[in-house]
Amino acid sequence: MKAYRAALLRFDDDHNPLYESDGLLVVGPDANGRRVVRAAGSHSALVDRFPGVAVEDLRGRLIAPGFVDMHVHYPQTDVIGAPAAGLLPWLENYTFPHESRFHDEDHAREVAGFFFDELQRHGVTTALTFATSHPQSVDAAFKEAQVRGLRFITGKVLQDRHSPDGVRDDTEQSLIDTETLIQRWHGVDRLGYAITPRFAPTSTPAQLRGAGELAAKYADVWIQSHVAENLDEVKWAAELFPDARSYLGVYGDFGLLRERAVYAHCIHLDADDRALMRETGAAAAVSPTSNLFLGSGFFDYAAADAAGMRYGLASDVGGGTSFSPFHTMLAAYYVGREGQSKTGLSLTPGQLWWQHTAGAAQALGLAGVVGNLQPGNEADFVVLNLQATPLLARKTAQANSLDELLFALIVLGDDRVVERSVVAGG
Ligand code: GUN
Ligand code: ZN
Repeated sequence: MKAYRAALLRFDDDHNPLYESDGLLVVGPDANGRRVVRAAGSHSALVDRFPGVAVEDLRGRLIAPGFVDMHVHYPQTDVIGAPAAGLLPWLENYTFPHESRFHDEDHAREVAGFFFDELQRHGVTTALTFATSHPQSVDAAFKEAQVRGLRFITGKVLQDRHSPDGVRDDTEQSLIDTETLIQRWHGVDRLGYAITPRFAPTSTPAQLRGAGELAAKYADVWIQSHVAENLDEVKWAAELFPDARSYLGVYGDFGLLRERAVYAHCIHLDADDRALMRETGAAAAVSPTSNLFLGSGFFDYAAADAAGMRYGLASDVGGGTSFSPFHTMLAAYYVGREGQSKTGLSLTPGQLWWQHTAGAAQALGLAGVVGNLQPGNEADFVVLNLQATPLLARKTAQANSLDELLFALIVLGDDRVVERSVVAGG
């Protein structure tokens, strides 16, 4: 066992932040040997319960749950900042040519290594990520995550039409490859598999049907895709699937809406779509830096809450512009404020932070596993330096409330704040 003394941030069951200015986090193995949080609370209340346990003194720092990125593309690490006139030209001109290089496992492994270094440098300890259509891109990412001991989910992209040579796969082989990869990786150490149709326009009905059959056969495997990101994409999906009630309805028709199904964007949905999200337990990965960069639109938080659908935050690199959860939370605040195309509201710093930690974990079906520092959670956490920049030191010293402290970090924070990312207790 080991303990850490610092300010401590956690969340209660009602999504409220819990804060201890002088906290203690005790980590150690559970009955199954997993390194978990054994106790968390104020130093004075806990210290006598753990005599003989070494305490690392991190006073002056803030310990918070490791961030959870609900949607990111590791093969698009080198696509960040590629300008385009919207989603579809961006895919064609930048993304597909980059992804075609991942048939080479050495290239995939090199990019995966860099990607995980970036995630951890920015305080992200769990991610649900797209690989590419090449099975070796999945092997490369899992191998790299396994070495680092991360809880991590990925899957081979399915795209058997409307895709150029080099990324387009074969319907039957793609489904065989998916099942092979599920059997090879799902549930190994902290790794999980996600069935990954890129989006409805690049899969034939036969491929979507096969994906849905695998999703039924392997009920605790994840599903990930994109939906209703961009108006041109929505129109294209309607032309390709004229019998579906809506774009989201296509996924429902093929058995791809259920718990552990994560759909990036969910911007251009209607009330029936949002009800379908809630009824099926599928979750939205809100990707604000990507939506602002590609000019896709604004996620409607008020409508999502009214419908009771699940969601959490995501970087969506390389459509997204940053691996930093601080940048993503700030962009989510801007998106929430936008009040011309939908109801504008002010997300609180506690809500923003929850959406990128415990809320994202809950949306992934991993509540109580990652994203929080309540007892029993796996001990993935970040050590934050509130004095990382002169302005941040000044603002945090003046903070009169937890909201003010967290907002200062969200608005001014970036990788400089993240002194350490601790995976599975350190
Ligand atoms: N829709 C289909 N593929 C992609 C992708 O790679 N990025 C984004 N943002 N949207 C997509
Ligand atoms: Zn994406």
